[in-house]
This record gives sequence, structure tokens and C-alpha cells, in this order.
Amino acid sequence: MFAKKTIKDIDVQNKKVLVRVDFNVPLKDGVVGDDTRIRAALPTIQYLLEKNAAVILCSHLGRPKDCVDPQYSMKPVAAYLAKLIPQKVNFAEDCVGPVAKAAADALKGGEVLVLENTRFHAGETKNDPEMAKQLASLADIFVNDAFGSAHRAHASTAGVADYLPAVAGFLMEKEIQYLGQAIDDPKRPFVAILGGAKVSDKIGVIRNLLKKADDVLIGGGMANTFFKAQGYPVADSLVEDEVLDVAHELVKEGGQKLHLPVDVVIADKFEDGAAKKVVPTGPVPDGWRILDIGPDTVAQYAKVIANAKTVVWNGPMGVFEFPNFAKGTFEIARAVADSSAISVIGGGDSVAAVNQTGLEGKITHISTGGGASLEMLEGLELPGLAVLQDK
Ligand code: 3PG
Repeated sequence: MFAKKTIKDIDVQNKKVLVRVDFNVPLKDGVVGDDTRIRAALPTIQYLLEKNAAVILCSHLGRPKDCVDPQYSMKPVAAYLAKLIPQKVNFAEDCVGPVAKAAADALKGGEVLVLENTRFHAGETKNDPEMAKQLASLADIFVNDAFGSAHRAHASTAGVADYLPAVAGFLMEKEIQYLGQAIDDPKRPFVAILGGAKVSDKIGVIRNLLKKADDVLIGGGMANTFFKAQGYPVADSLVEDEVLDVAHELVKEGGQKLHLPVDVVIADKFEDGAAKKVVPTGPVPDGWRILDIGPDTVAQYAKVIANAKTVVWNGPMGVFEFPNFAKGTFEIARAVADSSAISVIGGGDSVAAVNQTGLEGKITHISTGGGASLEMLEGLELPGLAVLQDK
């Protein structure tokens, strides 16, 4: 059960509600490239509008350097939102200060206001109480629906909750329920699939999942570091020498639970058109590099996945951006989609890979969080969740 209060547990009728959303979406030439995060926030926005709340939305976008940087303006995002909902979407050129205050004061029930990027102020990432107080002064209630930013203790994700009644939105609730249940109360067998380039980013995640899951399947560039830690030279493959000891420890700790690829696809260049061959795991010939998991690995992993009741996946199995080295990732996506397990996928790259296969409809839950979902898998407390009122 979700332990935090949501917008259903508090009276939002006719109230001014400040909603932190994660509208940190890719922009290309000022146009929203992927609207998943915007659409994911609509249930909360619509519910509040139905209750005649005045809805004030705030978010960060990109990583501007604590000052106004037009390329990270929320304006195109506000314009995009206006196409998705029937209500007029107002825009304030600042998220705090007199401009924001005047816009928020003028906002009526059933109307929407989008504030400018919270990271245009240094106080945001510093979680400055003054900035949090100013944000809070715009509304009667704070709703955090920004699961993707819940691992950040910033003024708009955490600090503001010191000054307003603070509850979760529906997206936050849904994300925490799916990921939380998978990790803390999974239907077993519980299989975790971890890929991506770096072990160093995911040491804590692997450790935690080795405790919680029945099987941990490793792929992607991070597998190379495990190979090298086991004494196989990996030639020109991506490898992190600084964490070889940790990889060695994880292999020991993991025992039978930790699965490493039994074969890999190697290439003579880091490009899609490179010569390639499938080889069993072992020393990689000079001048070659590992770019994907091999067919025997796919078959073995698919068997484990088919038997699972819960699957959590983060990180691709290879360089799937190159079509010639995408097979491992796509086949694993198919295995997850075909399984009857509860499946949860997090992290931008694995989500993008699943979307490319067109199998996203067969996944139980696709998370809108990258870093946030990883921190949950690591068993860490999310500051943006911790500050919300308990049920
Ligand atoms: C994300 O895209 O993971 C979130 O929006 C957080 O962004 P950040 O890593 O810049 O804090």
C-alpha cells in the first residue's frame, strides 16, 4: 500500500495547488521531442481541474547553470501542454518573485499556469529555504507528481513541503507502487536485468538487487568490467579499471544469482558498419571490442525471464543505437514482453529500446524516472517522497 497521502486524501476543491511535475523532456529546436512525461502528469492535472483547483505547474528543464538560459525555457513545454488539454495554459516568465506571484494570484479555479524553469534560480538545486518559501507563497497545497525528480532534494521537490501541506500526485503514487512492490514484495521468482555502460553507476543497485532478487542478469558495457575482473582481457572494449575489485567482489557475493553473458558480439570498430562476430566469453582478440550480448546468452536469459513472476529491467544489453548491435537488447525486450511476469522498466535507454520494438504495450509499467528509479532499486530513500504527508 502507498504510505503517503495523495490528492484524494486532501481537500483540493477550489484551492490553489502548486504541482511539481517532471517536465524535463527532450527539446529539439524548441519543440518537445518526447511527450511521455507530460502525458504521464495529465491524470493529476485533470483531477485537480475537475475539482476547480487553480493548477500551478513547476518543473526544471535540463541543467542550466543557475541562471536564465533561453534554450531551457519551459515556454515550449507550456505550449505543448496547451495542445493536450482543453483549458487555456498561462505562462509566467519566472517561477518565483513578483511575476510568478502576480500570475498565481490572478489564476482562477479550473485554470492552469506553467511557471518558468525552477533551475533558472540558484536556490533550486541548493534547496534554499527562501526559494522554497517563495514557491510555497504561490499556493495553498503542494503536490509532488515529479517521480523522475524525486531523488533530488531541491527547493521545488522537497524544500517547499516545509511550508505547505504536501501530498503525492497520481503518477508519483503509481511509480512508487510498481517499483516499490517489485523490490520489497515481489512475486517470485524475481528477476532483475541490468545493463548499460558503467558498473560504477550501478554498484549499489547490483548489491541491493543481489539481496532482493532471485536472479540478476547482467549485460551491456558493464559486463566487460566483470569479464576483466574474472581475468579475461577485453581488448578495446569499454571497461572501468577503477572498479575491477568491486566487480570481483560482486561476482563472489552474487554466486549463482549473478548471471554474466556466456557469449558476446565483438566488432573491429566502434561503428554500426564494423565487421562483427559472435564469440564465447573469454579473451577478446586484440583490436576488437564487445558491443552486444550473444545468442546463447539471449537464449539463457530468455529462459530465466520466461520463468519469472516479476521482472525489473534497467539498461540496454549492448550498443542498440547501432542496428547491427541491437539484437541482444531487442530480444531481451521481446522476452520481457512475452513473459507473464509483472514487468517494470526504468531508465531512458531501456525505455527507448522497448519503444523502438513497439512492445511497450506488453510491459506492465514503464517508469518515467531514470535516476529516481535507479535510486529506488538501490533501496535509497527519495527525498521528494519522504517529505510528503504520511497516510
Ligand atoms: C531526469 O531526467 O532524470 C530528471 O528529470 C532529473 O534530472 P537531473 O538529473 O538533471 O536532476
